[in-house]
Amino acid sequence: MQSKIVLLPGDGIGPEVVQQGVRVLQSIASKFGHHFEFSEHLIGGIAIDETGDALPNSTIVACKSSEAILLGAVGGPKWDDPNAKTRPEAGLLKIRKELGLFANLRPIVTFAELLDSSPLKREIIEGTDILFFRELTGGLYFGPSGLEELPDGQQRAFSTAVYTTSEVERIVRMAAQAALKRRNKLTMVDKANVLEASRLWRRVSARIMKEEFPALEYEVVLVDSMAMHLLSRPTSFDVVVTSNMFGDILTDEASMLPGSLGMLPSASLGSSGPGLYEPIHGSAPDIAGKGIANPLATILAAAMLLRHSLGLENEAVSIETAVRSVLAAGHRTADLVRRGQPSLGTIEITDHVLKALVA
Ligand code: IPM
Ligand code: MG
Repeated sequence: MQSKIVLLPGDGIGPEVVQQGVRVLQSIASKFGHHFEFSEHLIGGIAIDETGDALPNSTIVACKSSEAILLGAVGGPKWDDPNAKTRPEAGLLKIRKELGLFANLRPIVTFAELLDSSPLKREIIEGTDILFFRELTGGLYFGPSGLEELPDGQQRAFSTAVYTTSEVERIVRMAAQAALKRRNKLTMVDKANVLEASRLWRRVSARIMKEEFPALEYEVVLVDSMAMHLLSRPTSFDVVVTSNMFGDILTDEASMLPGSLGMLPSASLGSSGPGLYEPIHGSAPDIAGKGIANPLATILAAAMLLRHSLGLENEAVSIETAVRSVLAAGHRTADLVRRGQPSLGTIEITDHVLKALVA
């Protein structure tokens, strides 16, 4: 198979981890006889520095003519001025919107070998396997917002959560389809006791479930109690679907279940066109350039890329198996060990993944 893959390394540890993802994809290409053509483009803070724009048009054009995109991370203290005219994060929001990537899949899976790295008790987290579907191109992130000066010298700011019926339908449908291939349970999270937009979610989801997925077990949970249940009974969830803002918050919370943010990949998909794959850990400016970042989330994101955008399931599984075997052999990056314990660097742990891939 011949495929064009766009690389968007971005800021902070982004370039270091994307480089390791590419090494793994190259090894998959030679093992399975594929050809991946990589091209690198600008996004985020580095794009602001070089072009004045967090998402230059050349990046959008390259992404639109690719099969898949592997992104590192955007942002950092250098671009954090709240009065700046543009921010690195604007590049990420724009690419999601431009490519119609309305579904953000965030799998939260505990690794048996890392159960003791989690701040939570082993008996609570063991067996956790949740797939979040976070709506990604609507809601509070994209609704009308503004800032105005009041006559009395105050400022007044607002952000609005807006959803349409079809925006809710497509993400709920995608989540329900995923649940059918898993453990047949869908949890929809909202705040319907307060928010009008959530009441639309609740009505639309109930209808889709009744008409199209009568066999699925379906429940609705309010977002505040979901925040609690995720920590008290994470194994009772299978697929979870929710709006943009709630999904942002709940998936960061859920990322603590497997022990380290450094292990979690994500996929952003539309109804057609390239998918975008990234680690969820962000740019980690404090450790950028030190060669100690955990590349496994990006490597697992590369596996999701093979599965969801290129249809290469066996290749995806071989990466996931290699990562598990590296952990089983006791190899760890700094984020996965107690302070002061020996650990491997970004390149070294990838070397072990590559060895496991050819073994
Ligand atoms: C994420 C991030 C982004 C978001 C930021 C960087 C804009 O937190 O992907 O979860 O809020 O969506
Ligand atoms: Mg987030």
